[in-house]
Order: sequence, then structure tokens, then C-alpha cells
Amino acid sequence: MDIKFVEREVLKEKPKSNFGFGKYYTDYMFMLDYTEGKGFHDGRIVPFGDITINPSMMVLHYAQETFEGLKAYRTKDNEILLFRPEMNAKRMMKSNKRMCMPQIPVEDFVQAVNDLVNIERDWVPSEEDTSLYIRPFMYADEFGVGVRPSKTYKFMIILSPVGNYYPEGVNPVKIYVEDEYVRATEGGTGFAKCGGNYAGSLAAQVKAEKLGYTQVLWLDGTHRKYIEEVGTMNVMFLIDNEIYTAPIDGTVLPGVTRDSIIHILKDWGYKVNEVHLDINELMKAAKEGRLQEGFGTGTAAVISPIGELNYKGEIITLNDFKTGELTQKLYDTLTGIQWGKIEDKYNWTHVVK
Ligand code: COI
Repeated sequence: MDIKFVEREVLKEKPKSNFGFGKYYTDYMFMLDYTEGKGFHDGRIVPFGDITINPSMMVLHYAQETFEGLKAYRTKDNEILLFRPEMNAKRMMKSNKRMCMPQIPVEDFVQAVNDLVNIERDWVPSEEDTSLYIRPFMYADEFGVGVRPSKTYKFMIILSPVGNYYPEGVNPVKIYVEDEYVRATEGGTGFAKCGGNYAGSLAAQVKAEKLGYTQVLWLDGTHRKYIEEVGTMNVMFLIDNEIYTAPIDGTVLPGVTRDSIIHILKDWGYKVNEVHLDINELMKAAKEGRLQEGFGTGTAAVISPIGELNYKGEIITLNDFKTGELTQKLYDTLTGIQWGKIEDKYNWTHVVK
């Protein structure tokens, strides 16, 4: 793919600390157009800035939009690494197919991410637990308020230097088990990374926050009892020395971190059960002292220990609200690979050049 570069005259001042999550954006962004009958065209890296939106633009009305999230990491030798970017590309293809949107080829997706990050390599922070968050997204930009797939789209990538996603950092979070609202049902869009899934989840998140919880744990939409995922991450539990996590069968986001952690756990000899775990079974295991640890996995959240669960007012505390031994070991191993501190025997990292 040909990518044109439009240089800006003055570069922005870079933040030195307290990055937060999504507070700052870099100097440049990537843009690529799609037109039915012509395909993808006019790839360009241009100064980060506002985009013009016509009030009738389709995405504003019917939410034909998908996105991805990945990170770039600075090693101690000042190399910049991406983590499994082709998995994000493949997931976006699946999301786009579900949303009747064009599928950007994997190699074009990875090239666009690589080239933009390469130009912005000075923006990749070097402080502990920081990285450059990469947000690719695509939206319907045809004008018109008829309900049908758009004939034109924009694919864009923006970059933001970030610290921890949760204010708790890598300390345990409190999770509210949602039993009123539903995130996804079979045949719906649960597996797709589309903005609408997140818009629909906000009411539950606001409710949980009012009750003092960081995030919600979603149950399945049909029986309202099988554990699915947390708002911004997949979720795993260690019960009787075995791992339990929801299967990827349509309603759960196929997380890149989830897949990586399952690989590592199996490598360490753990039995990983990808099954529909009943929340009542989990509560029972906790009461019987068999629930050892719980944690979330996600690009933004990394590995996030779960310290407390509230289900219908009944509260269980996991591992005395402390980060579990396995959770910590997984965090150290995954971030060790991502920051190039330990050998990447899985060949997951991609050097930006
Ligand atoms: C990610 O982990 O990258 C996500 O996309 C989750 C969230 C910030 C929406």
C-alpha cells in the first residue's frame, strides 16, 4: 500500500508523566478511504486534527463503526515493539464482516500501524507501565439517512501515550455482577468490536460506579447466569487449580490478551476450561474456599486482579483482596514479553521499523 506523508510545521509538546488513558494524542494520524467499486485508496499520514462531519453521515445515525486497540512498547534498547498486531487485524476483519463493512487486508492494517508508530516513535513513553495506545477504527462516512450499508468508509488510526487504564493500577478491582442489563445474545454482535456494544453497556457501568464498583461482569443474555466478560476485558478464574473462562462462541470478545494468557497457562501445565461457568457455581466455589484467584485480561487493562464480586447484593472477596500469585506471575510474564524484558519464545512481538 502506498502511504503519502503530510508533514506538520510545528510538533506538539510531549507530556512527561501522568499520562492517564486517552488524555494526549500524538502529532500524526493515519487515514485511508474506501469507496465501493474502487476499494481502499489514498492511504496517508497527516497531522492529527479535527475531521469534517456532515450531519447526515451514516455512522452518526446507525452506528456502522468498528475499532481495535493495541499498544507499542519501548524496550530498554529503545526498540519499539508491537504485540501480535496481525491478531487485531484479523479480528477487525471479523467485526467488519458482521457490520457489513469492507475488510482491510491484514498486511495493510499492520503496515499502517507500523508506519504511523515508526514516525511517532519518540511518543512511545519509557516510564514503568506506560506504552503508546494504538486505536485503529473504521466508520461509515456516506451521507444519507436510509438504513443500509454505507458505500464509503474511512479507516483511521490515532495514537495516545498511556499509563494504567484503571485508577487502581495493577491492584485488585471491585466488580459488580450485572443481572438487569444484557450485553450480548447469540446471533448478535457480542464478538465484534463495534462502538454500539460499548454504548449499550454504559448504563450498567454508570450503575456499577454509583455503587462503588469499577466495572461490571456480564452474564449471558439468555439464561442470565453464565459468566461472559467484564466491560473492558475478558475474565478468568482459578478454581481448584484449574482455569475457567468463557468460550469464544459468539457473545464474547475474542481478546488478544485472552488468547496469549491461555497459551502461557497451557504451557505452564494448567488445565484451561473454556466453558459456560454458572455464576452460582462461582459463588459456591468462593464460599467453599475453592475460588483461588480471578483476573481480567485486555489490551488496555493488561492483567487486572479481581478483588471483590457483588452478585445480587452478596459479596465475595477474592484472595483477601490481594493480587494472587498466579495473576502476578502472568502479569510479569506477559508484560516482560511486551516490553522485551524476557525472551519472546512465542514469536509474538513485531519490531517497528
Ligand atoms: C482495549 O483493551 O484495547 C479495548 O479496546 C478496551 C476498551 C478501552 C474499550
